[in-house]
Amino acid sequence: MSYVLGLDLGTSSLKGILVNKEGKIVDEASADYPLLTPKRGYSEQDPKEWFRAAKKVMAEIFKSTLDAKDNLEGISFSGQMHSLVLLDEKDDVLRNAILWNDVRTTDQCVTITEKIDNLIDITKNKALEGFTLPKLLWVQENEPAIWSKVATFLLPKDYLGFCLTGSKQMEYSDAAGTLLLDVEAREWSEEIAEKLNVPSSIFPRLVKSQDRIGDLDADLAKNLGLLNSVPVFSGGADNPCAAVGAGIVRPDQGMASIGTSGVFLSYEETGDKNYNGHLHYFNHVVPNAFYTMGVTLAAGNSLNWFKQTFAPNESFEELLKGIKNIKPGSDGLLFAPYISGERTPYTDSNIRGTFLGMDIAHTRDHFARAVLEGITFSLRDSFELMKKHSNKEFKQIVSVGGGAKNPDWLQMQADIFNTPVVTLETEQGPAMGSAMIAAVGAGWFDSFADCSKVFVKYKSEVQPDSEAALQYDKVYANYKEIYPTIKDLSHKLVTDND
Ligand code: XUL
Repeated sequence: MSYVLGLDLGTSSLKGILVNKEGKIVDEASADYPLLTPKRGYSEQDPKEWFRAAKKVMAEIFKSTLDAKDNLEGISFSGQMHSLVLLDEKDDVLRNAILWNDVRTTDQCVTITEKIDNLIDITKNKALEGFTLPKLLWVQENEPAIWSKVATFLLPKDYLGFCLTGSKQMEYSDAAGTLLLDVEAREWSEEIAEKLNVPSSIFPRLVKSQDRIGDLDADLAKNLGLLNSVPVFSGGADNPCAAVGAGIVRPDQGMASIGTSGVFLSYEETGDKNYNGHLHYFNHVVPNAFYTMGVTLAAGNSLNWFKQTFAPNESFEELLKGIKNIKPGSDGLLFAPYISGERTPYTDSNIRGTFLGMDIAHTRDHFARAVLEGITFSLRDSFELMKKHSNKEFKQIVSVGGGAKNPDWLQMQADIFNTPVVTLETEQGPAMGSAMIAAVGAGWFDSFADCSKVFVKYKSEVQPDSEAALQYDKVYANYKEIYPTIKDLSHKLVTDND
């Protein structure tokens, strides 16, 4: 039996899956690490913890699946995006990594936007606090002693690749999230670097996801009891890896992922569309391809908030069991899920959520249904932007995460997107994408599309109901009016209560 190993470096833990040539997961393990919040809005991690976790996960897997020790044909990674790792000239870590969800860099985003008037032309994206370039500028301004020692910057999974092989590089899907890559030309932007005094000497070499970056370090392999050398492939950012792992390898498919935040993602064949920064637009892990992505900051989290606030002692099943008795549109009750601000399509950290249209006849089931509808409408905003700017016709949506677990929510998604929706037989998130990169890198398949035919299995398709879809078109038109209607008052409420 031959295997590949996919390692997903997440924000709270590292997960490893061992996969055979049929795409079956034969073993898995995970290890946690702490999230450090030294100040409000700060979010950091010690990169050495990631390496420690990876060693623990590998040791566990090779201990329980003994024949993997001499039959492992490749290792690859997926990783949290944007988080900044700084190394000195001896390749020692200079400070804790500043993570993607750290929001200390608002001033640096303003500077970038003012100084680089063609930022969106080059990087396809707006300057957001989460991205890497604002973090580099923050260190430059606030920690000059550390800045003066920076020899290289890496992203989390690239740092792990370095720990496993001794080779430093960054691959395109992650480099695109730095805000320093010319996304279409696939090269570092000297122009941005120069204008912001970031020395291009700190840029690592760029590689493709399935490029072999080296072999697993001999000492490490020996300690793990591996009998042969194992090729290591560079891997990809977690979102495109999740997309590949969900079988999104064609432009007519979309992925609707509902975790704490929500993501609507689609595959793009070219990098020349103009979304004017309303959506994220990055290089894919699939060679020469791109993807677009819209993010709803509080998707599953809106439902969590609703449950914790109004039904803390009930299960999600109990809370949602009555929603099927309520008509699409919740009899005029609307919910906007902006409880933590919003990213797509508004990029507004000072907007807040609302229920609108409360009527004496509304019950708690109406509220629960309205919450799910509002979350799904916010993903439809991204879906509509993709259709509008990219002339897309979606033929299938793959639902993953919380939205895939409830049959009524699945039907709601099919109706709101007016598109057939499928779920995965087994959901592995980005880890499956990283295993697929190793499988393609190891030569098991010629392409991600071929790999996906073997590795990705769907359950049956949920079809949209044409009447409900029509009704939802009307309700969605009302939903779209919420943001401009409440914006000013909502901002005032936030500033008044700061
Ligand atoms: C994407 C983003 C997050 C992280 C999570 O822009 O910031 O989805 O990739 O790991």
